Amino acid sequence: MGPPVAGQRATELRRQIAHHDHRYHALDDPEISDADYDALLRELREIEARHPELVTADSPTQRVGSRVATQFQPIVHGVAMLSLDNAFSDDDVRAFDRRVRERIGSDEPVAYNAEPKLDGLAVSLRYRDGELLHAATRGDGVTGEEITANIRTIRSIPLRLHGQAPADVEVRGEIYMPVAGFTELNRRTAAVGEKTFANPRNAAAGSIRQLDPGITATRPLDAYFYAIGTWQGAALPEQHSALLDVLRQFGFRVCEEARLVTGVDECLAYYRDLGTRRPALPYQIDGVVYKVNDRTRYTLLGQAARAPRWAIAHKFPADEAMTVLREVEFQVGRTGVLTPVARLEPVAVGGVTVSNATLHNMDEIARKDMRVGDTVVVRRAGDVIPEVVRVELARRPGNARVVQLPEQCPVCGSAVLRAEGETAARCSGGFVCTAQRKESLLHFVGRRALDIDGLGDKLIDQLVDSGRVRRPSDLWTLMPAELAAMERLGDKSAAKLCAAIDKARDTTLARFIHALGIPDVGETTAAALARHFGTLGALMEADESRLLAVADVGPVIAAKVRGFFGDAQHREEIARLRDPAGAALRWDESAPPAAEAAGPLAGLTIVLTGALAGINRGEAGDRLTALGAKVASSVSKKTSYVVAGEAPGSKLDKAIALGVRVLDQAGLEELLAGRRP
Ligand code: IVH
Repeated sequence: MGPPVAGQRATELRRQIAHHDHRYHALDDPEISDADYDALLRELREIEARHPELVTADSPTQRVGSRVATQFQPIVHGVAMLSLDNAFSDDDVRAFDRRVRERIGSDEPVAYNAEPKLDGLAVSLRYRDGELLHAATRGDGVTGEEITANIRTIRSIPLRLHGQAPADVEVRGEIYMPVAGFTELNRRTAAVGEKTFANPRNAAAGSIRQLDPGITATRPLDAYFYAIGTWQGAALPEQHSALLDVLRQFGFRVCEEARLVTGVDECLAYYRDLGTRRPALPYQIDGVVYKVNDRTRYTLLGQAARAPRWAIAHKFPADEAMTVLREVEFQVGRTGVLTPVARLEPVAVGGVTVSNATLHNMDEIARKDMRVGDTVVVRRAGDVIPEVVRVELARRPGNARVVQLPEQCPVCGSAVLRAEGETAARCSGGFVCTAQRKESLLHFVGRRALDIDGLGDKLIDQLVDSGRVRRPSDLWTLMPAELAAMERLGDKSAAKLCAAIDKARDTTLARFIHALGIPDVGETTAAALARHFGTLGALMEADESRLLAVADVGPVIAAKVRGFFGDAQHREEIARLRDPAGAALRWDESAPPAAEAAGPLAGLTIVLTGALAGINRGEAGDRLTALGAKVASSVSKKTSYVVAGEAPGSKLDKAIALGVRVLDQAGLEELLAGRRP
């Protein structure tokens, strides 16, 4: 295909793809199969690869661009972005309606457009001659921050307006994360051990403020549009409802819940109806917005301070409730950490009954000055565990009791210790403590450790409570018949489980070290230790200076590793696990690689974060190490690259803060091919 023909074909493909993007993402009504869509996109990509001069900014292949330099640039809005006054009661809304009628001098019921108040981030998109020029956050209302590259990744947003191109318009709306997408994102984030988002709004804000649009592109963002700023070269509808139709025709998503209502009573009926349906909506809202539908009245109505007089936000009561703190109990985790948990007088919050909330640690309790018997405010945000926001000090009863850290472990009675300067208090019982025993066993058999399928927490509870399993090595003494006698386990599952336990004998040194559950030694550090020492014996005997020679290990981890292997009980259990006549775990032991520094990536220190496509982090780490790189688990100024997969976490933030180069999947592939990107 020569350039002119290729150019025509590319234009046609772009038109078709934009049409199908709109059908699929904005209207939720696709006309063609995913495979057919992919074929169009592939053909366009091929043409653009052969003729780079034909690539246009509005090409659907250009949604994910390159990262923003170091910070977001300021953008002055064509017309200031106002905010809304709030109404918290029916009376507030009636007063608003009265003011509107007074100003327009009418006794007739006013026509309003009632819309959900979406809980996301305001955005303003500027289109010149129909093409997306830039996108900006609200900022202080006058000047926002440029987020164009990130907005382009949202496929329901048109890069070019449909129909007749207006000269210059600003279209405004809300970027949000649908609840389902938020839940899935947090599941993925938690699976890779990163910090989860508190609620969809925070997740949307965090995603839009990424410097790398490649990351934003992996986040399930969407947008609804409901207002305009600058408006030149397009007919300005006289009714807000008609304006929403124009936005739809331009290709934008407009919330399907928007309704035309007449008079204040219909406003309030809309509010109540939406309120009852709120939990079932696929997005989060925090109220309703009523807008005078007749735009020709806007000038007359004017604005007060920074909000228009023709609209108001009627807020839903927050997802918070007051209740009484009945008791504080302590749960014991794998490493013995005691976590305080609030037992509450059951209370309905955001549609569910809450009777427990996490209190994190003793410092948190002290900071919030929480006492048993206090009236507290609890909040549920999105999918996360409820938390106590604050204490209502005015309601504190005379007999409120200060929360004490127990001196003895509530599970095993061993002494509770709190090291100087540490937030966490720990049970010193180690394997004596059944709570720790259960948690360590669950960790030991976990997917990233020995990976024994079918050994869940219920079964571990039974095995530990009955005293049948006291330590990991006991697992290899279990017989199918005794397992089958356990609750909820039939003959078949028991046999399957025994086979899985048997099979788990063949493992790797890295998995075994990780399975041991040495405090602060996660998967990456375990892999680094295995690579460095080659044999378990060498690791167990290593002194501090030898441990510090490992890329990932500092003085704190070195001390924890030494402490772990210095413990006689741990050494005995390791011996039982390796005993050919006992559990008989085995793995390849090899001498440590002599010249770790050789190889094409020698001298590079790389940190992996997020879920990588097609390869897990352990495997990627092994291959990078084999090429001479050091793979570390935390980011510092010495880090050469951070490779960010899907749902990356704080490591990415740290990389950005320190100015460390961030690579995406393509960058990782370069590295794996032995090249330095
Ligand atoms: S209209 C001048 N409509 O609420 C009117 N705002 O508190 C401009 N919001 O910054 C806003 N849903 O981020 C409007 N249906 C809706 C809305 C909405 C959410 C947000 C928006 C605005 C804030 C004002």
